[in-house]
Amino acid sequence: MASVPTVRLNNGVEIPQLGFGVFQIPPDDTVEATRVALEVGYRHIDTAEMYGNEKEVGRAVRESGVDRSEVFVTSKLNNGFHARDDALKAFDQTLRDLDFDYLDLFLVHWPLPGIDVDYVETWKAMEEIYASGRCRAIGVSNFQPHHLRRLFAESEVRPAVNQIEVHPYLTQDDVRAFGADHQIATEAWSPIAQGKVLDDPAVVRVAERVGRTPAQVVLRWHVQRGDIVFPKSVTRSRVEENFALFDFSLDDDAMGDLSALNRDERIGPDPDEFNYIP
Ligand SMILES: NC(=O)c1ccc[n+]([C@@H]2O[C@H](COP(=O)([O-])OP(=O)(O)OC[C@H]3O[C@@H](n4cnc5c(N)ncnc54)[C@H](OP(=O)(O)O)[C@@H]3O)[C@@H](O)[C@H]2O)c1
Repeated sequence: MASVPTVRLNNGVEIPQLGFGVFQIPPDDTVEATRVALEVGYRHIDTAEMYGNEKEVGRAVRESGVDRSEVFVTSKLNNGFHARDDALKAFDQTLRDLDFDYLDLFLVHWPLPGIDVDYVETWKAMEEIYASGRCRAIGVSNFQPHHLRRLFAESEVRPAVNQIEVHPYLTQDDVRAFGADHQIATEAWSPIAQGKVLDDPAVVRVAERVGRTPAQVVLRWHVQRGDIVFPKSVTRSRVEENFALFDFSLDDDAMGDLSALNRDERIGPDPDEFNYIP
């Protein structure tokens, strides 16, 4: 099977372009799901404190027999911990839960622009975490260009990635272009829109044309756009299917047909409106 390419982040760290997401995998199922993904060949796992399964991800990586240095692990700062001291403690807890001595990528999960802690303060805590040498890269999630502009103006370290909702119904061309212009890699969350795009007649037509499954053509569309993806599945056959993206390609017509499905439709909340603290 063709190998997974890497994307070089703005600090030189390489991240596998395809990973495995563990959102909504119950803790009791996470060790097994992550074990399967590592066995299939995934070397990038995307978790978060909010998902409640960091311990299980860490355990699966440690028990896999794959060297820790060969697996890229991302986690995220949860919404209740935006104040500086809370963020530093939350990062320590994430490392303890994973039982790792370093993390590959740590993200601010949501900007929460309406809460009483300014996300610039949160980002400065992320800079301290990065400076401690216990995290290879730091980034953000669900940030809009105007949130990023404030970070550029008021802090030192540029986020390495922005993890945002992207799929054919929400192509996010403006936020992605802003990232590209500022050396911020885009990570596309819910890349198959949690399954909702797979029955779309245009997706099915492209899949039939290239002799691949709907999920494969949608994931390949992301890869050819240069984004980083980490589809989630607890079904082994789908975990294998989603990994087989690097031995075919989509021509311009197929890319255009999938991009034309955009209708600016979100599955998740609007980052400018979302201020939820658990
Ligand atoms: N930063 C954020 O705010 C944020 C928000 C959401 C997600 N994320 C990240 O993005 C990752 C992926 O997003 P997601 O989990 O929301 O959704 P997704 O990966 O777009 O879709 C997952 C759903 O699609 C199904 N599926 C997977 N592969 C399939 C295939 N080949 N054919 C048919 N169905 C398939 C899965 O079912 P089964 O599992 O039953 O097989 C599951 O129901 C998350 O796990 C998380 O790491 C981040």
